[in-house]
Amino acid sequence: MAESFFKWDQEKLTTHVDAMDNEHKKLIDIMNKLYDRNAAKAPKAELSAIIKELAMWTVTHFEHEEKFFDTLDYSQAKTHKTIHKDLVERLKGHQAEFEKTGQLGPAFFQFLKTWLTAHIMGIDLKYGVIAAKKAG
Ligand SMILES: [Fe+2]
Ligand SMILES: [Fe+2]
Repeated sequence: MAESFFKWDQEKLTTHVDAMDNEHKKLIDIMNKLYDRNAAKAPKAELSAIIKELAMWTVTHFEHEEKFFDTLDYSQAKTHKTIHKDLVERLKGHQAEFEKTGQLGPAFFQFLKTWLTAHIMGIDLKYGVIAAKKAG
């Protein structure tokens, strides 16, 4: 099997909130599928369907996450929501570009990688810390 585009790393990526970790894993699975199918030169319609799935799951995940951290005393909730909005817009921009060109270039996969590392590790972990404190 081909090397995965992105591997789940429990130590580095866990938010210690199981439901959110499971959704992050689901997103990573879809990204890996997209990476593999793109590398295998799958037809445009198939790639397009995977990107749609990714976009849909991203929106759903962000909704769940926002609902969750709104139950916490999380001072950065507003900024976090703005970042989500920006990520969705950028993802949709890449999606529109793909629909036009039929190409998923390195910039697209770089965007996904940065999103995962910078967002999950840099931002999502923060509500994880607060949730852990609340749980005692
Ligand atoms: Fe987030
Ligand atoms: Fe997240």
